[in-house]
Amino acid sequence: MSGAVLTLKVNRVIDEAIDIRSYELVDPEGRLLPMFTAGAHVDIELPNGLVRQYSISSDPRDVDRYVVGVLREPESRGGSTCMHDRVRPGDHLTIHGPRNNFPLAADARHHILLAGGIGVTPMMAMVRDLGARGASFEMHYCTRSPERTAFRTDIAQSDFADRVIFHHDNGNPADGLDIAGLLREVRPDTHVYYCGPAGFMQACEAALAHWPRHTVHFEYFSVDESVEHGESAAFKVKIASTGAVLDVPEDRTIVEVLRANGLEVETMCEEGICGTCATVLLDGEPDHRDFVLDDEEKARGEFIMVCCSRARSPMLTLDL
Ligand code: FES
Repeated sequence: MSGAVLTLKVNRVIDEAIDIRSYELVDPEGRLLPMFTAGAHVDIELPNGLVRQYSISSDPRDVDRYVVGVLREPESRGGSTCMHDRVRPGDHLTIHGPRNNFPLAADARHHILLAGGIGVTPMMAMVRDLGARGASFEMHYCTRSPERTAFRTDIAQSDFADRVIFHHDNGNPADGLDIAGLLREVRPDTHVYYCGPAGFMQACEAALAHWPRHTVHFEYFSVDESVEHGESAAFKVKIASTGAVLDVPEDRTIVEVLRANGLEVETMCEEGICGTCATVLLDGEPDHRDFVLDDEEKARGEFIMVCCSRARSPMLTLDL
């Protein structure tokens, strides 16, 4: 891992909604933190040894703290339950970042933000930033019920409250926001951002299929388990700088093979959602298995996420 490494103190833990807590992280000596832009995340080393990525919800102008929101997901691999069960005010955590894979577009005349559940976290920083800049935006915030809606108080007390529309579906997506209807007309100079659980992401992706690609922005916070990948066959990778050719067996990832051969590629999530391991692809046909690149970027084949993606051709040449 690289980037800024900070030891921060957990200053406050707040129950924001059912199963959702926010954690306010500050410098133990009260120093200012590295600046970040709306949409950024930090990687947190958890007490159980896992490293997890959490979006910053606080105002980018407040550089004395980072606030992250965490949904308890008992079905996940233990990151969120560790945060909920073991991290308390006064604890110190090692943080990497911040980094931003989900920035606001500088040239948009209007922004539409679509938040599903805990996917609201990066969007809270976005609406605080857009609100402070007097930018034109609307946020549609979709949750099951008011009790499961984090940051309600922050929104209600903000001066952008009238631009946030809540949609509660009580567990039935058909009763929630009509995403396809909202996005049916392509609006000029408008950019759309979406973040939420898998079904929400799929609905947004489908509804935005006819929008210009450069106006569509998204961030996955977890792997979409419903996406099926084909068989994982063996292939080779060629290291452009040395000409070395390495075998990637069917049961190992590219990054595992690189590491075993002394080649260090920075990684973080190792499941295709953070973009840290993006590597320039010089030749070969990739089998993209990540949730970072959009369809156009995948088709261009300039980058490959070496933590999860594989090859359709016998060999890939990497710019390493
Ligand atoms: S390490 Fe996160 S996408 Fe590869």
